[in-house]
Amino acid sequence: MPTRRPEDLRSARWYSADSMRAFAHRQRMQQMGLRREEFMGRPVIAILNTWSDLSPCHAHLRERAEAVKRGVLRAGGLPVELPALSLGEVMVKPTTMLYRNLLAMEAEELLRQHPIDGAVLLGGCDKTGPGLVMGAISMGLPVIFCPAGPMLNGRWRETKVGAGTHTRKYWDEYRAGHVSERDMIELEGVSTRSPGTCNTMGTASTMTSIIDALGLTLPGASSIPAMDAAHPRMASACGERIVEMVWDDLTPSRILSAGSLRNALHIDVALGGSTNAAVHLIAMARRAGLAIALADFDAVGRRTPVLANIFPAGDALMEDFFFAGGLLGLMTRLTDRLDLDARNVTGGTLRDALAHARVDDDQVIRRLDHPVTTAPAIAVLTGNLAPDGAVIKPSAATPELLTHRGRAIVFDGHADFNRRIDDPSLAIDETCVLVLRGVGPVGAPGMPEWGALALPRALVEKGVRDMVRISDARMSGTHYGTCVLHVAPEAQVGGPLALLRTGDEIVLDVPKRRLDMVVSDAELARRKAAWTPPPPRYGRGYTSMFQRHVTQADRGCDFDFLEAGPPTPEPDIF
Ligand code: FES
Repeated sequence: MPTRRPEDLRSARWYSADSMRAFAHRQRMQQMGLRREEFMGRPVIAILNTWSDLSPCHAHLRERAEAVKRGVLRAGGLPVELPALSLGEVMVKPTTMLYRNLLAMEAEELLRQHPIDGAVLLGGCDKTGPGLVMGAISMGLPVIFCPAGPMLNGRWRETKVGAGTHTRKYWDEYRAGHVSERDMIELEGVSTRSPGTCNTMGTASTMTSIIDALGLTLPGASSIPAMDAAHPRMASACGERIVEMVWDDLTPSRILSAGSLRNALHIDVALGGSTNAAVHLIAMARRAGLAIALADFDAVGRRTPVLANIFPAGDALMEDFFFAGGLLGLMTRLTDRLDLDARNVTGGTLRDALAHARVDDDQVIRRLDHPVTTAPAIAVLTGNLAPDGAVIKPSAATPELLTHRGRAIVFDGHADFNRRIDDPSLAIDETCVLVLRGVGPVGAPGMPEWGALALPRALVEKGVRDMVRISDARMSGTHYGTCVLHVAPEAQVGGPLALLRTGDEIVLDVPKRRLDMVVSDAELARRKAAWTPPPPRYGRGYTSMFQRHVTQADRGCDFDFLEAGPPTPEPDIF
């Protein structure tokens, strides 16, 4: 039975009073051709839509908004579509991560400032999922996240090709002279063949699955391909369900729990998920007031192996994962470590959601005794180079490099790297460690996905395909290699990475979870005393504010003034 009455609706504050202001609100709704009974006494549902003409992963979201509206109307609500920052991952520079928090602020304030009772969040491309969810958690209205869904499988001649993963692979082969320019032009046209998010286990698939595991999508929705007919059906069902959630006042705080967070962590590692999850899940959890630390990822990664055989750790794509049983199928492999009582947007539990779930392809969704790899999806390192932590994805790294000692070649920012990496006079071989610094949350700013540094052309031509790389940046979830990322504190704020010099020895020991430079404490103290912070690159505007308020990677890169604080009051209506 509904727990709220029409007069309890938030939107009633705008429409129901006997005041001149409420008269004006009703007048303006009627101006849009709506009758009083269409907008009064029924839940008003916002559809926050991150569609844009420069977001190919969201190209279908206008049509999906129409499907959501169908569901809302069918359940007796009024749908209203509100555009939100689209954040197409590939087109936005310097990085969408610079704008995740802006989207979170926008989502929260769009919901607050309008007569809205609940919302369906349309997103999926990398930062849009966490951004929308962070804002929605802070606002506290009932919401359902409607994931954009992965694009269809790509294929080039005999080979299955995935977005991002094969872009990097074939670019390396092209630089080595093994793939022609004509081949590359052909690949441009076939490797991302439909709307939808990257079809590999990149950040989008990782984060939509995590949001699903948190209970904020219809169960299993994250695995449905964008172009499958099941996708608009799912969108319509989101519209129908959100109206019921408004009557039930089923807000994120009544869904999210320590158990749902544990489920999300296990799903992340079992998927072989993107290292970006270590930033976004922390940010989302902190918005909800749930305790989480980098060490939690490491602990779960040690216990739960990679079971989803998807690029870059495996060799299948998201469409294969969907046919194999999708996220719910994967969850049936992990019932002994998931919280089956965790709630979701249906009002039921994960146990209910898994009642009819199954796995139809053991090769794509592996059994616990036959994992894709025994290397963990994520490992958290600490040491004198990363006192607050750094992450690496052992499942996508070269096993022999996970224990390595080598001479550092240090680059200050990406322009320096681009200028010198292919310089024939650079004294470098495959045992060296490439270090890129000054590209963290404050330094870049926005911590771009520059961590999978390109290898020197001369070494690529020699056949080298991986080296140890270290940075305070992030890496695309679709990429691979022995890349140590998210070094915290970052160089720009005076982390030890700022003190490293070319020629210093670095010791990486992933089994022992260590990352150190072989430099004495006394020498480090001398360097620290001589170090001066680089001047901030921006003196005004959003980017300047970002640099002053973004937290470090181990805290989720949220803004310090958004991650906590007293509840924001509802707007005055006079
Ligand atoms: Fe949008 Fe990968 S570029 S999900």
